[in-house]
Amino acid sequence: MLLLAHGGTGPSGGAFPPWEWHPATVHFPIAFLLGAVALDLYAWWRERADLARTATGLMAAGVITGVVAAGTGAVAFFTVPAHTAEAHTLMYWHLGLNASALGLFAAVVFLRRHPEPHGAKVRIAGVLAAALLAAGGFLGGRIVYRGGAGIDPAVLAPEVRGGHGEQPRAPRPENGDPHKGH
Ligand code: HEM
Repeated sequence: MLLLAHGGTGPSGGAFPPWEWHPATVHFPIAFLLGAVALDLYAWWRERADLARTATGLMAAGVITGVVAAGTGAVAFFTVPAHTAEAHTLMYWHLGLNASALGLFAAVVFLRRHPEPHGAKVRIAGVLAAALLAAGGFLGGRIVYRGGAGIDPAVLAPEVRGGHGEQPRAPRPENGDPHKGH
């Protein structure tokens, strides 16, 4: 069954397979939430209550789009075809870091629902949530670009193509030209 194809060779999935919804949705929460925290730090420094309110609005947009990204992430988790064993382990860290970041951001938005002044603790909690999100996003990229998750199995190394393969070595072109064969 396609929905439980996690770890198998899997079909290529057609024009827009279910695991590709996730990379199409992740940029919104990352941009909204990291942008919100950067704006809020500026607002704190310049004592700009108007900008702090905008930052709270951006954070709320980030939490809403983050819930969508978490949903598409769950779909990817159960449908994504072949990937390395390392990528499989990293998926749990990716899930945990991003879920923690979203939960913390949701709490921060709740605490900021009333206008200024926001305490330093609430603002620092936003910075911590941004760090968790950045680490989770970094692992997401690693899962794809180093672990092959979401890449068409047809173009993966044979030992990875079959499911949770070992980490493949980088190809060593015979003439030293990394673009040979393009
Ligand atoms: C706000 C929450 C999340 C963010 C911002 C996020 C971010 C990312 C990013 C940046 C990538 C790399 C995409 C690429 O460059 O192609 C990725 C991949 C991935 N993420 Fe997430 N993620 C989130 C939640 C989740 C959750 C909750 C799960 C699992 C239940 C998950 C599972 C995956 C999987 C399986 C991949 C690799 C395959 C694919 O991209 O479809 N993610 N994520």
